[in-house]
Amino acid sequence: MTPSNSTTGTTASTAGPTGAADAGGSGWRRVCAASDLADESALGVEIDGQPVCVVRSGGRFYAVRDECTHAEVMLSEGEVENGLIECWLHGSQFDLTTGEPTSLPAIEPVPTYPVTIDGDDVLVDLHTNPKRG
Ligand code: FES
Repeated sequence: MTPSNSTTGTTASTAGPTGAADAGGSGWRRVCAASDLADESALGVEIDGQPVCVVRSGGRFYAVRDECTHAEVMLSEGEVENGLIECWLHGSQFDLTTGEPTSLPAIEPVPTYPVTIDGDDVLVDLHTNPKRG
């Protein structure tokens, strides 16, 4: 199975690619177990040397670059609520679907990445159609 309609904001029930950490040589990488990520929480991981913030909010999964666009601060250390993640340093919130900041001082969007669920595995693809906000 190919990674189908997988986009940022995938629900846990969405069928994803088969296979393990790297589904058939594609860009999909297993980042954690879905059951390990509580709702309204974030997890900082590294994929191919890139910092990635994996988030579960409202039962949906998201992935964004784990770096605030205002300064070099990890977004995964911020609060998650209703599809937004808040930078802990100055309080900018970012829409997890679009990456767009919804409040100052950040003005640049954070890159978002496709997420899919395969069984209990959360997979992120950094290289296929990353959205730059
Ligand atoms: S470092 Fe994130 S809002 Fe300032």
